[in-house]
Amino acid sequence: MYQLLRQGLFRLPAETAHDLGLLGLDLAGKWLAKPVPACPLTAFGLQFPNPVGLAAGLDKNGDHLDALAALGFGFVEIGTVTPRPQPGNPKPRMFRLPETQAVINRLGFNNKGIDYLCRQVRRSRWVAAGGIVGINIGKNKDTPQHQAVEDYMICLRKAWPLASYITINISSPNTSQLRDLQHGEQFSELLQGLEQEALRMRDRHQREVPLLIKLAPDMTSAEIDVVCDRLNHAAIAGVICGNTTISRPAEILSSRHATETGGLSGAPLLGLANACLQAFRQRLRADLPIIGTGGITCGADAAGKVAMGASLVQFYTGLIYAGPTLVHDAVQAIIAQQRLMPASNANPD
Ligand SMILES: Cc1cc2nc3c(=O)[nH]c(=O)nc-3n(C[C@H](O)[C@H](O)[C@H](O)COP(=O)(O)O)c2cc1C
Repeated sequence: MYQLLRQGLFRLPAETAHDLGLLGLDLAGKWLAKPVPACPLTAFGLQFPNPVGLAAGLDKNGDHLDALAALGFGFVEIGTVTPRPQPGNPKPRMFRLPETQAVINRLGFNNKGIDYLCRQVRRSRWVAAGGIVGINIGKNKDTPQHQAVEDYMICLRKAWPLASYITINISSPNTSQLRDLQHGEQFSELLQGLEQEALRMRDRHQREVPLLIKLAPDMTSAEIDVVCDRLNHAAIAGVICGNTTISRPAEILSSRHATETGGLSGAPLLGLANACLQAFRQRLRADLPIIGTGGITCGADAAGKVAMGASLVQFYTGLIYAGPTLVHDAVQAIIAQQRLMPASNANPD
């Protein structure tokens, strides 16, 4: 049934289809889903019903939490949200590359701001019932770079009482200089600021909230060495590996939209994202879980990431191309693989 719907949606510009698709999901999403088998696990101190989550960016404002959860995701990440609402980049800013099951986007953190998102989380019945919601935070476009850390702190303080975990997104390619926060002094300052603020929040709210860092798949191996060394000594609970890529793999070059500026996601990202996941897994402390994200379009892709050391996985673009049954397929493939894997590999927690 999703394939029929998809035919209709793919006739529309990508962002219109996205908005309409989410509306449809609110009305009828659960009829498109397939019951998802239980596959419980613990990571970051949280108990997940299954290891397959929705990646950030689809539901930037938390408007569709209950409908997305009804698809069977083990966790849903919303955002990226910034302290103040902002419109994002001029349209068109999202492009489908159907020949290769890919998307290029340069949305630029269009969102309604952290206060709005927090209201939506408070309204969600699924969250109230214990659903695992990640809040992904970023900086406003017009905040000067030297004040970037303060934007993360503003969002952190507001998200803390509501989030199951908070993702620090420093890897979107569509906000100028955002990726610079992954390196050098800026990275150290951010980690220090997060550590101090997390201590204060823990005291004030008597609540532990794991902090995750979301990184780009475009780092050199020397950069990965440095980042992992810092993360191994920081108060960070885990890593999301990773965001969209600014690279353009050969397989997409014949696509009509291959030359659009922005981050590439979907099937052509899988190889790069997996190489990155493996590099991080080798260098990070064994007790630091990784969420493997990037290029999952079938169950085997999800199971592959778990075999490479991801504790959990997420996808976004795969949902557009394969539809909601991908949640079931991913969980099923991971379960099948775990039956074959030694127990010690199954879950680092
Ligand atoms: C249209 C679009 C918007 C996105 N917006 C965000 C975002 O706001 N924050 C973020 O951390 N990642 C964002 N992402 C990246 C995804 O969360 C994910 O990391 C990336 O797309 C790779 O996974 P995929 O190949 O399964 O899509 C976005 C991706 C797409 C396609």
